[in-house]
Amino acid sequence: MKSILAEPTQSELSVRKINILKSPKKGGSSDRDAIPYIEGLGIEIFENIQPIQFTPNINEHIHRWAPYVQGFSASFVQSILDQYKKEYNDPVVLDPFAGCGTVLVQAKLNGYRSYGTELNPFLQFIANTKLNCWDISPNYLLKIYNDLPRDNRSSAPSFLKSSSHFNKGVLRNLEILKGGIESIEAKNEKQRKVKDLIKLAFSSILIDCSNMKRTPCLGYYKNKKVYDTAPYVLLDKKIRDIANDLRLIQSQYKDFINTESKVIIANAMDFKHIKKFDLIITSPPYMNGLDYVINYKIEMGWLGFVENHKELKKIKDEMVVCDNVSKGLIKEFCKSGSTYSNDWIEKIKAEIEKNIEKRGHYRRTDMPYIVHKYFDDLHKVMKNVIPSLNSGGRFILVVGDSLIADMYVPTDLLIAKIGSDLGLDIERIEKARERRSGQIRSYKLRESIITLLKR
Ligand SMILES: C[S@@+](CC[C@H](N)C(=O)[O-])C[C@H]1O[C@@H](n2cnc3c(N)ncnc32)[C@H](O)[C@@H]1O
Repeated sequence: MKSILAEPTQSELSVRKINILKSPKKGGSSDRDAIPYIEGLGIEIFENIQPIQFTPNINEHIHRWAPYVQGFSASFVQSILDQYKKEYNDPVVLDPFAGCGTVLVQAKLNGYRSYGTELNPFLQFIANTKLNCWDISPNYLLKIYNDLPRDNRSSAPSFLKSSSHFNKGVLRNLEILKGGIESIEAKNEKQRKVKDLIKLAFSSILIDCSNMKRTPCLGYYKNKKVYDTAPYVLLDKKIRDIANDLRLIQSQYKDFINTESKVIIANAMDFKHIKKFDLIITSPPYMNGLDYVINYKIEMGWLGFVENHKELKKIKDEMVVCDNVSKGLIKEFCKSGSTYSNDWIEKIKAEIEKNIEKRGHYRRTDMPYIVHKYFDDLHKVMKNVIPSLNSGGRFILVVGDSLIADMYVPTDLLIAKIGSDLGLDIERIEKARERRSGQIRSYKLRESIITLLKR
């Protein structure tokens, strides 16, 4: 599969291959490399292997409305809520990195109030539509959808390469549907919610209709056969699923329809919460991971959340850093002076710098500073949200560690250390999943659940 992000050149590829062959980390594991850090914190890591990824959600009501590879599994969130059911009476839940709202939807299904911040306006829209349209009559949704005009074609977003993303016939049908959706009236709250549900359904079929796949990065997918009628077939199915879920909500969860739950567009690093929370359940972006803006640029463009690449970049620059941010942003960070650091971060930075120099080439030579900015960003988020945690409350984070230029980065343990520096107790760290490093496939990484307690 060919990524739609920048491709490495041939010579970069061969240097990369040589470095992989020579890597001292071949066959290694983060469990072994983490030992000095674990000893430093005076803790243990317990094994608690479980499904934490979004994949099972495609069969779960409401969660299945929009596919989101980077999300949590609903059953994982439910297991946390169950664990603390007796301890907190009617807990108030926060997810500072709300994504498509898995934590909030699951909390609301338990009748708990839930709140979130999210910087990507498309994801915030998805989360709020999943949370706040529970009172819409399924028959009314089906009526508006069935009456959608099909004579009002509206062009694909001009800044995207839609004629490469979609086959000609598919593109034409998507433009017809887009025009129909745009003409739905939204004069009152009920009409607005129905329009939002149909927009959500439309956005959720775009990648399936395209010549691409998200695995988890968005890239072209050779030999994918998409029929011209795919937009109609897939949208019909999606709307029927949503209508069925609304029926289920209105019979089984009717007492919770008005439970307050919402995600606002805000930066988790500085948004001042007025409310107090009992549980903060979240998963921050992973360090070497995904670009949560470029990966969703097709949906963002088609739904009108952005009109050009400059707007995409502006959103990305505000987020917790990922490894394809602009060099300018990292230069600014280096100049900014008052940043958080600790002895582990400084040691990791120095080792990465040394290893890059030794290799003579690396994807990004400013990687040590990207790593530093990542922990500075997470420190800002934690420092910002911890004051809104009630005493006795818990801050639960799921995160994966990384291998960068042959240097192991114990993200979970560093987050625990930051939490402890900010006054929380490290209650538990559990290994929930084993992963493979993207760079050295034989190196085993882990994904952990960190539980921090506020006394
Ligand atoms: C790992 S995903 C969370 C997924 C979520 N648990 C779910 O199930 O949908 C991290 C999210 O954090 C968002 N994000 C990144 N930096 C942010 C910031 N500074 N403030 C708020 N949200 C941010 C990204 O857009 C992304 O949606």
